[in-house]
Amino acid sequence: MTKSIEKLATTYVILGGAWGDCGKGKVTAFYGQIANLVIRATGGANAGHTVFVNGKKFGLHLIPSGIMYKAMCLIGQGVALDLGILLDEIETLKNEIPDILERLRISGTTTLLLPYHKTLDAANESLRSHKIGTTKRGIGPAYADKADRIALQVNDLFRPFEEIKALIVQALEKHKPLLQLYGDPNMSNIETYAEELVKELIEQAKIIKPLIVDGHSFVRKYVNDSNKIIVVEGAQSVRLSIETGDYPNCTSSDSNINGTLSGAHLNPKDPTEIIVVLKAYLSRVGNGPFPTEIESHIGPDGKLIPYKEEDAYLGDKMRNDFHEYGVSTGRPRRVGWFDAIVAKNSVQVSGADAICINCMDLIGEFGITHGEIKIAKSYLYQGEEIDYLPRNTEQTHEIPQPIYDVIDGGWKITPDMDSYEKLPEKAKLFIEKIEEITGTPVKYIGIGPENEQIIVRS
Ligand code: IMP
Ligand code: MG
Repeated sequence: MTKSIEKLATTYVILGGAWGDCGKGKVTAFYGQIANLVIRATGGANAGHTVFVNGKKFGLHLIPSGIMYKAMCLIGQGVALDLGILLDEIETLKNEIPDILERLRISGTTTLLLPYHKTLDAANESLRSHKIGTTKRGIGPAYADKADRIALQVNDLFRPFEEIKALIVQALEKHKPLLQLYGDPNMSNIETYAEELVKELIEQAKIIKPLIVDGHSFVRKYVNDSNKIIVVEGAQSVRLSIETGDYPNCTSSDSNINGTLSGAHLNPKDPTEIIVVLKAYLSRVGNGPFPTEIESHIGPDGKLIPYKEEDAYLGDKMRNDFHEYGVSTGRPRRVGWFDAIVAKNSVQVSGADAICINCMDLIGEFGITHGEIKIAKSYLYQGEEIDYLPRNTEQTHEIPQPIYDVIDGGWKITPDMDSYEKLPEKAKLFIEKIEEITGTPVKYIGIGPENEQIIVRS
């Protein structure tokens, strides 16, 4: 039988470009309002996004932000799920969103992130000679157990007590040396610790039982209905992916397109619009190459070195003006100019159909205050001009030096500018430079903090 050409759901996959924290939530919100299903696909509580419900501010880490609208929301199988954090989020939101349990679903094959993964994350980081600057949410160790096939999946919570305990004991035995050194004293007695943990998990499982679905068939129902709109909310970013990021300075899941699709129970032939989201400047938390970073008072440990206002570097000013502090960890972020080479790499390795550039208002005003706005268009590396960010900077200890296009002054975006045509000429020039270098249309432009402040070009 030949496959008939069916019309399937429209699916938007929203990925971070660069190093995350780029305002993916804005595009998610744009489509989330009309979506039937919003899926979280990878990562865990290392991700964080701020949402507003009834004018109140919430920081979400695991629940898809589509929960603010009418959409069904799925935690897909690529997520590392910390049940404690999930239940806390449900608890905080349930007054504002009374139907939260009716609209939230969890794939049964999602990996569980257990308390000892957080202990191991901290232990691993302190033992590393090369610090990554992880969020210490247990993400790496949870995925490591998944790869090692000693992790528990959500479905395992419904096995008999002794079977769950045996799975946990198996993992604890493997991690015994580190847990004895770094864990709390209870962890040393594996049998009793495992029993206590199983009891707690069984209580948590009772609450989430009605939410659990077979992820594949659940998502297929939406995919196979051409009237449905699906939004996949990527976590972290293309350049933080373990596959396409700056290894080892990356996260531990594939937050690029492949991992995001399989994590969301989708396949590469499901018709999607892939959107890479970037800010009009860049930021990065944790270590790793960042060629366009602007000097600021961030120490080698990623912490802020105290400084007086009169001694502030341009990078400190940018961080403060733009409130660049992590939602999940509160850490100060490194900041820098827009890098069209990083952007180009992100669209190329993800197959992006469109780019979203956020914070066009902020960078415009920064340009007015400080006299110029820069965009890296190539690098000088080992004596040559190159148009890609090399993957071997760890080995060469040499960060490519950006070659910039400079836009004099800046621009101001006013509320009447509700279409691309109405944007200031310099802002359009900025966007056009990005399109030229990346070869990809900038279809979405964020022009202010509110969800509605987005220009969508047809
Ligand atoms: P992990 O994901 O906690 O293992 O952290 C690995 C690296 O990814 C660190 O540099 C983190 O700062 C970075 N990272 C993880 N999640 C995010 C995110 O949501 N936004 C930005 N950076 C992140
Ligand atoms: Mg974030």
